[in-house]
Amino acid sequence: MNFHILTLFPEMVLQGLGASIIGRASEQGYIRIEAVNIRDYTLDKHGKVDDYTYGGGAGMLMQAQPVYDACTAVQERIAASSGRRARVVYVTPQGQTFCQEMAKELAAEEDLILLCGHYEGIDERVLEEVVTDYVSIGDYVLTGGELPAMVMVDAIARLVPGVLHNSDSAVTETFGDGLLEYPQYSRPEVWRGRKVPEVLLSGDHAKVDEWRRTQSLERTKALRPDLYEAYLKKTLQFPQ
Ligand code: ADE
Repeated sequence: MNFHILTLFPEMVLQGLGASIIGRASEQGYIRIEAVNIRDYTLDKHGKVDDYTYGGGAGMLMQAQPVYDACTAVQERIAASSGRRARVVYVTPQGQTFCQEMAKELAAEEDLILLCGHYEGIDERVLEEVVTDYVSIGDYVLTGGELPAMVMVDAIARLVPGVLHNSDSAVTETFGDGLLEYPQYSRPEVWRGRKVPEVLLSGDHAKVDEWRRTQSLERTKALRPDLYEAYLKKTLQFPQ
C-alpha cells in the first residue's frame, strides 16, 4: 500500500513513521510512505503558501493553489502507475471520527493521499475540489494535521498483510472483535508478590481461551460500556 502525505513538514512525518514496525515495513516494501512538501508547489516567488482570511479573523490560511497543484501531481503519478484515482483524506477536527472499522476500510486501498492542514486550515475551495473524506482523530484540536496523519498511517499500515509479523495479533487484540484485549503476562511467574493467573500456566489451551474471553468481556463491560453494549447487540443479531 502507498501512503502519500501532503504536508508543510515532510521531515516530521517521515521521521515519525521511519522507526519501529512501520519503519521496518517500509524498508521491507510492504508499504511505501512518501511525504510531499506542499511548499514545493507554490507559484509564489518567496515560497509563501498561506495568507490572511477574507472576512477577517485571527491566523493565516493555507492557500488553494499550492495544495491543489501538490495533490494533482500526486494523483497524476498514481493514475500513471495504477490507472486509478486515489481517495484524498483531509485530516481535520471537523471530520468523521477515526476508528478501527475505518482503518480496515482504508487498508484495502492501494494508494491513499492524506492532506495535512496547518495554521487556521485550508481554503475551502480546494477542499471542495480534491477531498473525498474528512477524518478527525478525536474531539480536540491539534496545531496541524501531521500527527493525525501519522496516527492514521500507523493504524492502517499495521492491517496491511506482512506488516505485522505475528499475523494473529491483528485479530485477537483490542477492537479486533469489538472487545478490549485480555490482560497478558510474561516472566517472571511472581513479580513483587503478584502471581501470574494459574490458568495461564496450566497448558490447557481451551481453558486459557475461555479465561481470556471472560477477561475481555469483563474488562470491556467495566472500562467501555459503550463497546460492550454494541458487542452484545451484534452477537444477539449474529450469534457466533
Ligand atoms: N487537525 C487538528 N486537530 C485535528 C484532529 N483532532 N483530528 C484531525 N486533524 C486535526
